Amino acid sequence: MRLTWAGVLAALLVRVTAVAEPESWPHLPRYYTLPSLREQADIQDAWTRERRDKIPAILKKHGVDAWLVSQREYAEETVFWSLKSARQFSARRRTTMLFLASDNDTTASSYTWVDNTPKLWDELIHILDARRPRSIAVDVDPQIAFSSGLHAGELKAILAELGEHWIKRLVSKPLVAIEYIATQPKSRAAWYRRLQSTAWAMITEAFSERVITPGVTTTADVEWWLRERIQEMNYTTWFHPDVTIIDEHAWNLSSTASMMPSAVMMGPDLEIKEETGNVVNYGDMLHVDFGVTALGMNTDTQHLGYVLHPGETEDDVPRGLVEGLRKGNRAQDIVKANMKIGLTGNEILKNVLGQMHAEGIEGRVYSHPIGDWGHSAGTLIGMTNLQDGVPILGDIPLLPSMYYSVELLVEHFVPELNATLRFPLEEDIRHVSSEGDGSAWLWAYGRQERFHLVHTPLSSASSARQGHERLGFNSRGGGDL
Ligand SMILES: *[C@@H]1O[C@H](CO)[C@@H](O)[C@H](O)[C@H]1NC(C)=O
Ligand SMILES: *[C@@H]1O[C@H](CO)[C@@H](O)[C@H](O)[C@H]1NC(C)=O
Ligand SMILES: *[C@@H]1O[C@H](CO)[C@@H](O)[C@H](O)[C@H]1NC(C)=O
Ligand SMILES: *[C@@H]1O[C@H](CO)[C@@H](O)[C@H](O)[C@H]1NC(C)=O
Repeated sequence: MRLTWAGVLAALLVRVTAVAEPESWPHLPRYYTLPSLREQADIQDAWTRERRDKIPAILKKHGVDAWLVSQREYAEETVFWSLKSARQFSARRRTTMLFLASDNDTTASSYTWVDNTPKLWDELIHILDARRPRSIAVDVDPQIAFSSGLHAGELKAILAELGEHWIKRLVSKPLVAIEYIATQPKSRAAWYRRLQSTAWAMITEAFSERVITPGVTTTADVEWWLRERIQEMNYTTWFHPDVTIIDEHAWNLSSTASMMPSAVMMGPDLEIKEETGNVVNYGDMLHVDFGVTALGMNTDTQHLGYVLHPGETEDDVPRGLVEGLRKGNRAQDIVKANMKIGLTGNEILKNVLGQMHAEGIEGRVYSHPIGDWGHSAGTLIGMTNLQDGVPILGDIPLLPSMYYSVELLVEHFVPELNATLRFPLEEDIRHVSSEGDGSAWLWAYGRQERFHLVHTPLSSASSARQGHERLGFNSRGGGDL
């Protein structure tokens, strides 16, 4: 076939469009294996350098001249984990970092000491005397974890060593640490998408006949299968997967006796107990809350599955369930559309719930930042138990270049079951902004619009094999870059 330039261009465009941003369930998600540890370290350090280069601008934006982050080995500040190099596994001795807002070609914008002698304080004071910051932020906020990492003992040491002149200039500026942790560099997006694809691939496999045999497999079996799969792929996670069968009592968040989503809310008296789970049966709607961790990033996904009766196909999923999922998708769109940079989480929550109610959608919204942490730094849009606003964390403004987890549930009456079910969904998004007013939230990978399905052929003898072929899974861990 003869190639024309127009043809090449068209082919490239098709390719770019196809790869760029699928807005919904694209095709079967694939597994991505991680590069060697050494390559991972190089990738992560490049991101960290890019992020640290933005610190002077963050300090200027929040009106402070300097930022002091200080810790001892095993008593690290929360923000330390977003500042460290990939080869550091903890702070050593006393690890003290000073960041400055003024950065010109002649002076450094940051200093790091790793020391256990008084020389550290002498040199720190020497730098302060030379640079004369009018204000020095320290992370001592009483409410916001990401901005309160300075340990009480370390603060005492600083107060004992700095001297009156500099102690007077210490200030609390919670948004400095929040904005540093929340801001995700553009260069991270490609790998974040691969992590999401891998998480989706794991869910797709877990909610299939490869893993679930109706009448035999329990929800706990599926949870532990996911844990093992994460390990086989050399990823880790930040919470134990949570698989439930959705009936009319599940996810009743106004009931204290109800199942609480484990990654969202932990009761103070959480018991350590063996979970056997429930046996999965034909006709069950399944729910999973699942996340993976790799390369210093975390994902958080909630999807729904359906267990078909023998011989059934996707067309046999009860309409009421399909409509419930669709209603959930509409609520996701409403959250995304209302996430305007600069509004507080509480303002966004009010707008979202107002629009949902105007459209006749009953539900709850409890969306949160994600990235360096599963529940990361930044404003919250509701919590499971707080639908009138979240004190303090809900009053922070939404920042640009964040990753965010759109987490919510909608209620929907399912005629086939003569019951109102709750449809909990969660999907991660990332903020992109270009010059001018081009600002948008995109699905980090995609969003669920169809149920994951567990098939059972009428003659179930060959079920496992057929399922394997239908889903098109390669050998385990078959993905590469
Ligand atoms: C760079 O910053 C230092 C310290 O604030 C200042 O003394 C110096 O004049 C600055 N140099 C330039 C070229 O702006
Ligand atoms: C996981 O790590 C082991 C040990 O380095 C390696 O042999 C294996 O291929 C890795 N598996 C995947 C799926 O990356
Ligand atoms: C949800 O919990 C509340 C409080 O315990 C209870 O009054 C209500 O009946 C429950 N709803 C369902 C559908 O289980
Ligand atoms: C549906 O449920 C309601 C309330 O639980 C009950 O009163 C009604 O009889 C049920 N309808 C059918 C057709 O089972």
